[in-house]
Amino acid sequence: MTEQASFPRDFYWGVATSAYQVEGSTLADGAGPNIWHRFSRLPGMTVAGATGDIACDQYCRYQEDVDLMAELGIEAYRFSIAWARVMPKGRGRLNPKGISYYDRLVDALLAAGIAPFATLYHWDLPLGLEDKGGWLNDDTAKWFGDYADVMFRALSDRVGHWMTINEPAIVMEKGYVLGVYAPGHRNAAEAPVVARNLLRAHGHAVQAYRDRADGQIGIAVNIQPKFPATQSLADQAAAKRADAWRNLQFLDAILLGTVPDELPEMFGRDWCPITAEDMALIHQPIDFVGLNYYTRVVVGDDPALLPTRTRNIEPSAIRTLVGWEVYPNGLKESLLRITERYGRVPIFITECGAAFKDPAPLDGDDVMDPERVQFLRDHIEAARQAVEKGVDLKGFFVWSLVDNFEWNSGYTMPFGLVHIDFDTQRRTVKQSGRFFAETIRSNGGELVTTDSEIATQG
Ligand code: FCB
Repeated sequence: MTEQASFPRDFYWGVATSAYQVEGSTLADGAGPNIWHRFSRLPGMTVAGATGDIACDQYCRYQEDVDLMAELGIEAYRFSIAWARVMPKGRGRLNPKGISYYDRLVDALLAAGIAPFATLYHWDLPLGLEDKGGWLNDDTAKWFGDYADVMFRALSDRVGHWMTINEPAIVMEKGYVLGVYAPGHRNAAEAPVVARNLLRAHGHAVQAYRDRADGQIGIAVNIQPKFPATQSLADQAAAKRADAWRNLQFLDAILLGTVPDELPEMFGRDWCPITAEDMALIHQPIDFVGLNYYTRVVVGDDPALLPTRTRNIEPSAIRTLVGWEVYPNGLKESLLRITERYGRVPIFITECGAAFKDPAPLDGDDVMDPERVQFLRDHIEAARQAVEKGVDLKGFFVWSLVDNFEWNSGYTMPFGLVHIDFDTQRRTVKQSGRFFAETIRSNGGELVTTDSEIATQG
């Protein structure tokens, strides 16, 4: 036991997933299609044409996954709700069978002593709404509030922690500017409208929550510290633009009621200002910030790349399978920065994890994944250091419980603590799953090296 253990006693150690990435049975029991259903079927959009049609089959196997979590001692499960299961067209008619799935999931979690943390939107917009303009349509924000209210009515007696939207910056950038995620638009000029409507949607959901329930609600944002490639003024300005675009715009609006200056400058005539009325809706108190942390990014000035006029520099350092630099210190820096910029707001690390190429499981044995163990140990240690420096950190959720459908990468990026054989759906715990179980048992006090890990490292 180390002397410096400092995670609070009521800390939540959890794992995270999202509906489209794990559930499968996407159209079962009256569910409507969502934008990923269509996008993943377009030629060339996902590796090997993969879809989430079956994914991890959690819709049918949720009890098995809850049992697995219980076996590992996991204290909290962050899952997301598929909007189109609950409202097949995104608004109007409800689908009671879809709601009942989440009822059963939540009850199973509670019966196993696992706290449910629900995300309302993890990128799976009902197709019926995309066909009405999706996030470009101002009304989508209001419809999101209606859907959120349905879920609060159904589950807030048992779910005490809610997140409105997962990573709005990624929806905006990859979904509407780069077109590599659904709905696959490639139009930088759409970004300000999408960002504003995601923020308004968040505001409508928070408002509905306050009217209905008294638990905790927040948002999950992805923060990537941006470093200038050189100390030139041009690169420094580029890093500031990239930071405003990806890291600051959502939290500044929600927590400060402001817009970073770089954004209207970046967009010029395409900028869409947020009215005072909308800002009042967006800038309501929330109970916590959810931070998804994976990497940092080094950027340089590049006038040709709109809208930020920045270019990401390929890291030469250690990388995960996705290509992201392993940079644990960035987690600590991000936690400290949120605390400095917005005050001592409660923070959950709502995602942190890594894809590495794992060996195939051998019968009866855990999958050995020493790199993921190391990644987790270093990031948990970075989180601990942030706690020591005064950050009000409430929990740490590993992405992910199981290997799953990694968006346009299909099934090629395993992030799980548990391996899945996608032919048989067989689950096999990885060494990192055992490591995390030990971490939970000691409340992060001993960032233990397991015997099996010592054996693999030889
Ligand atoms: C995050 C997403 C999550 C998963 C991980 C690897 O950006 O929220 O769904 O794809 O990255």
